[in-house]
Amino acid sequence: MKRYFIHTFGCQMNVNDSLRMSEALSKMSYVPTPEADNADLIILNTCSIREKAEDKMLSALGRYRAVKASRGAILGVGGCVAQQEKDKLLKKVPYLDFVFGPDNIAKLPEVIARVQDARERVVETAFVDSEEYVFPRADAETSRGKVSEFVTVMKGCDNVCSFCIVPHTRGREVSRNFPEVLNEVADLAGVGVREVTLIGQNVNSYQGGISFAQLLLRTAEVPGIERVRFTTSHPHDLSDELIEAFRVQPKIAPHFHLPVQCGSDRILKMMRRDYTVEQYMERLEKLRAARPGIAITTDIIVGFPGETEEEFEMTLQLTERVKYDNQFSFVYSPRPKTGAALREKDWGPIPHEVKVARLERLQKVQRRISGEYTQSQVGLDVEVLVEGPSRYDATKRFGRTPENRTVNFEGDAPAGSVVTVHVERATPNQLAGKQVAVLKAPTVAPLPVELPVPLHVPAEA
Ligand code: 5AD
Ligand code: SF4
Repeated sequence: MKRYFIHTFGCQMNVNDSLRMSEALSKMSYVPTPEADNADLIILNTCSIREKAEDKMLSALGRYRAVKASRGAILGVGGCVAQQEKDKLLKKVPYLDFVFGPDNIAKLPEVIARVQDARERVVETAFVDSEEYVFPRADAETSRGKVSEFVTVMKGCDNVCSFCIVPHTRGREVSRNFPEVLNEVADLAGVGVREVTLIGQNVNSYQGGISFAQLLLRTAEVPGIERVRFTTSHPHDLSDELIEAFRVQPKIAPHFHLPVQCGSDRILKMMRRDYTVEQYMERLEKLRAARPGIAITTDIIVGFPGETEEEFEMTLQLTERVKYDNQFSFVYSPRPKTGAALREKDWGPIPHEVKVARLERLQKVQRRISGEYTQSQVGLDVEVLVEGPSRYDATKRFGRTPENRTVNFEGDAPAGSVVTVHVERATPNQLAGKQVAVLKAPTVAPLPVELPVPLHVPAEA
């Protein structure tokens, strides 16, 4: 038996792709190891959304070079950097054995065999665009013991946001046919999963035979499924039909991640986001009217080329106006071949210190607002889907509210239960309290040993 180790960077799409890689490797009699040091095969599944993410992968690669030298491990790079750099990466990193793009995961066994048997250095980065693309089917057994899982509904992105590398690394949009999605959800429900998050770079432009709103409604009806979430969306696809789905189906969790990127119409235009702040607000207000109390989160980029102080302040104002539950905010990072990077010199690059200072100001405002939300929960009873032991204190339980707020609490309900928790304390990021009632038992018998709850980390900051 040979051992493999996968280091995953980036977004949920990558996390899911790594799971599919594991499934492919287990079929070729590889077993996972938690440590790179004793692996025979090391794969880095990479992200290129910002330069920092790429730097992290390069430094990790340097570390794994030693494992290769000491035990002859095979070293490969997958994911978005692989797709972006292709054969250039093999030239740049002479000790690298293979490079494969996100569309080539099914070819992994063949690629590894070529490296092992023929000592070839291999590059597989062709896009599979159209109907020919076969979405790798998740093996539900690997999800046994988990409460919350991700299901891929589409890949790629047809938008043209000028800052973004994703269309270059993930190609055109391809949707997965809805029966396939629903079968996977049913299989997951069969092993005890109670919450699914439908994922894709741009889920609400889904075209897999029914509309995205219908897909959510059908997913919510799968027996055993308590909550349905999704990510990520573009504001221009937030249809009335989707808003209506939030009104009629309580299992669609009251949380919407709706990246706005910035609060200035001029910058939005340069970003090619094709909506104005007022149009964004109109959608949000309609959504909030359909589902009062819905938590809204967003992504923000500060220091986009040409962003003036006043324009940055418009982002602060928008943050106050929307009162986001939470934000993921980033400094602008020029990416190869993107429209904004090509025009950065003309538009006026923002000095790094200015970008960082703006980010800190924005994050301070958001921390205050997030804190106001979580403080408002103190003294209330909230509904929590229990995911397992707390990461911080193994004597406590961990779960999430429908709004996706994290809760650590004293209690004994097994993973997969729905409980009410009396909230006693709060920080801007989490709630703490005591279990007061069990509303629902798990749908399947819990595992004898609980799995640790995986961290849902967003793309590298
Ligand atoms: N620089 C900084 N942030 C970026 N994002 C995407 N591209 C860039 C970039 N070049 C952010 C956007 C997106 C999130 C996933 O990452 O806010 O919504
Ligand atoms: Fe690729 Fe974007 Fe995901 Fe990073 S965040 S792994 S660049 S799709």
